[in-house]
Amino acid sequence: MNPMRPNIAEMAAYVPGFQPPESQRFIKLNTNENPFPPSPKVIAAIQAEAGANLRKYPDAKSAAPRLAAAEVYGFDPEWIIMANGSDEVLNNLIRCFAAEGEEVGYVHPSYSYYLTLAQIQGAKIRTIQLSPDLELKEPASSFQGKIFFLTNPHAPFGFSFPLPFIDDLACRLKGILVVDEAYADFGDENSLELVRRHDNLVVTRTLSKSYSLAGMRIGLAIGPPPIIAALDKIRDHYNLDRLAQAAATAALQDQDYFRFCVGQIRATREWLRSELVTLGYEVIPSQTNFLFCIPPDRDGHRIYQGLYDRRILVRHFSDPFLQHGLRISIGSREEMEVTLAALREIG
Ligand SMILES: Cc1ncc(COP(=O)(O)O)c(C=O)c1O
Repeated sequence: MNPMRPNIAEMAAYVPGFQPPESQRFIKLNTNENPFPPSPKVIAAIQAEAGANLRKYPDAKSAAPRLAAAEVYGFDPEWIIMANGSDEVLNNLIRCFAAEGEEVGYVHPSYSYYLTLAQIQGAKIRTIQLSPDLELKEPASSFQGKIFFLTNPHAPFGFSFPLPFIDDLACRLKGILVVDEAYADFGDENSLELVRRHDNLVVTRTLSKSYSLAGMRIGLAIGPPPIIAALDKIRDHYNLDRLAQAAATAALQDQDYFRFCVGQIRATREWLRSELVTLGYEVIPSQTNFLFCIPPDRDGHRIYQGLYDRRILVRHFSDPFLQHGLRISIGSREEMEVTLAALREIG
């Protein structure tokens, strides 16, 4: 007899964005990484930590980065938990709030990892569908299960749900509302103020995108202290290693560098958007570090392949709701110029 839980036996593994070997020298615009290197202060902090101290366990409470995050976001440290990538905290939120058979909800399409996490937990999945004109086909507040994930700004389309909508949703849900703000640093507003007003609202953030640290795996959640305390019980006790703690602290403390990089990416995004529109693409206005764009013939895969043949990697989704378009991460201005020239050639 196979003792494996049936939900694990039956589920498909999550497929992360393709990471080609460095030797293939792609322009890599498929996983929303930041084209800028991490702050020089981050590199120095990692180098300083990469010594004999590595024989010792890290600080289990991640006190230094937690304090740095508390200063940046304007919350007391008990409102914040550090995580091994925001993926870890998304996982722990489901483990904390949805037992086997209980409902986990999210907007479809959005971040597909919520599905994997719900399947691991053996939870029931309830999606609220987006229509082609980016409206929710039914009210998100019709979800009455345990935990609802709202990716805001939305991925992969890049638009933002308005804050009054989120405020109202938090009031109407019986369960927890998680606002996954992986891309909020590239947008005009965020939900942090709403966290103070609702005892069921948690915001998740990552240092993977706006702080150029995807390779270090650092994320966090900001939420009411009772929820943060519960998440603290179930995390891996040494979830951030010493290098990650040093990197996170230095990155959060170097706000000048952070603001410079985000400003450049936002400017490149707006310039690229107008160039794509000139080429005849439909482009959804974005609050993120990527653009979802639809070529004139609505054949996203043809353009993906044309770019791939020219060593430019963007994201094409086979989901029927997304296959007409492409998600292009905002790289450096030079990378985007090469990409535009390739798009003109592909036609
Ligand atoms: C919407 C969204 N949430 C969370 C994540 C995961 O981020 P992290 O690298 O912090 O695990 C991603 C990564 O692409 C994402 O797109």
